[in-house]
Amino acid sequence: MPSLSVFGAQWGDEGKGKLIDLLARDADLVVRYQGGANAGHTVVVGDEKYVLHLIPSGILHPGKVNVIGNGVAVDPLKLLEEVDGLRQRGIAVSGANLRLAANAHVIFEHHRLIDQLSERWRGEGRIGTTGRGIGPAYADKSARTGLRVGDLLEPGHCRTRLKAALAEKNALIQKVHNERPLDLEGQLDRYVSVAERLRPFVGDTGGEVRAAYRAKKRILFEGAQGAMLDIDGGTYPFVTSSNTGANGISSGALVPPSFIDRVVGIAKAYTTRVGEGPFPTELKDAVGDRIREQGHEYGSTTGRPRRCGWFDVVAARYALELSGADGLIVTNLDVLSGFPEIRAAVEYKLEGRTFSTWPAHLASVERAVPQYTTFPGWSEDITRVRRFEDLPQRARAYVEWLERELSVPIVMLSVGPDREQVIPRGLQPF
Ligand code: GDP
Ligand code: IMO
Ligand code: MG
Repeated sequence: MPSLSVFGAQWGDEGKGKLIDLLARDADLVVRYQGGANAGHTVVVGDEKYVLHLIPSGILHPGKVNVIGNGVAVDPLKLLEEVDGLRQRGIAVSGANLRLAANAHVIFEHHRLIDQLSERWRGEGRIGTTGRGIGPAYADKSARTGLRVGDLLEPGHCRTRLKAALAEKNALIQKVHNERPLDLEGQLDRYVSVAERLRPFVGDTGGEVRAAYRAKKRILFEGAQGAMLDIDGGTYPFVTSSNTGANGISSGALVPPSFIDRVVGIAKAYTTRVGEGPFPTELKDAVGDRIREQGHEYGSTTGRPRRCGWFDVVAARYALELSGADGLIVTNLDVLSGFPEIRAAVEYKLEGRTFSTWPAHLASVERAVPQYTTFPGWSEDITRVRRFEDLPQRARAYVEWLERELSVPIVMLSVGPDREQVIPRGLQPF
């Protein structure tokens, strides 16, 4: 089957970059369809570590086509920085292996500025965004005041549209937030001057991906963020501004839903979250700190310490269901080595009721009290294990229990950041 969707089944940072890089070996195209440079996808190859924000995680493999689809909010300056960074490290990036949708929306400086000012304005109610301009850019897209990559390539058009946009944004920046307005000419200089560098990458990526599918090319759809950060299905308003799972592919890559053949979620063997918002299994104690230290849980994009907690079966089941996942990859199993006991939430108690399925109808799960199942831990280092049967019995029991609870086969395990640190369990990418 020619397409596979891989998405985050928690609150982001599940290890998507690592797995996409691995699976890209067998793919022809790797397609990002939502999010923007709020994503930080880490790929470790031997001693080299790459953190990709906008460029799909297939870029390290020569000969693969990496597509930034129309649903991605593209900061052109960040994109070119990323292109330059890769080239400096000897990775070839050209219009042949990187494609950029002409109809993707552009993130400008005013989006980044307003993102940060809005967070300040929200005060205690802040979302804890990455400050990359994501929310304001998607808001403009919906309000039909945004500019797209194709607009950038036409200076006259860009001037008219940016002038209109800045007139409104500057009023907001000055009158509401009391900050200095942005200068139209300065902004035009900045963005129009880089536009020519984008041109070789730009095209009708929707048409390109649809043609590739019809030609039976193997397509890997790379999700960013995670299901619990989905604008519709996630813990609103503490979410990002796009549809993060398989639900975002059709509109974000401009392919019909029937082109999504298989769907696989990724989850850590525990849970992390960056930014604000409900997180029922969060551990604000020494155990949470230990997970953070053992798992090096600091944000790939902002460096913020990630909030850590036990695996949440209730949330993961919901995440898998939303995207119709037929498999799950569990990462960071190695991080749990050495914990005397391991827990996983199977239900929540909330306002006198018990929920074993995600209570999506409630305004918030802030006060949910997770009900745990406890497992004895294992002490062995498992980072060199490559076969399931070679894992400690207790690690196997935990994985098999998760699989039963989630009713989805666990098709691969990851036991370290490197490409090679995986335990296959039946995932046939294509
Ligand atoms: P993404 O956003 O889903 O791509 O994930 P991030 O790259 O933001 O965060 C995942 C972090 O975990 C990165 O530092 C990875 O190098 C690392 N990582 C990925 N898989 C594993 C694993 O199985 N074990 C360990 N210890 N680290 C992993
Ligand atoms: P990857 O793809 C984890 C979080 C932010 C914040 C909320 C909204 O690396 O998994 P935004 O900047 O999108 O408006 O922030 O979403 N967030 C992420 N958390 N991983 C990510 O991406 C994230 N992208 C956004 O921390 O809580
Ligand atoms: Mg990340």
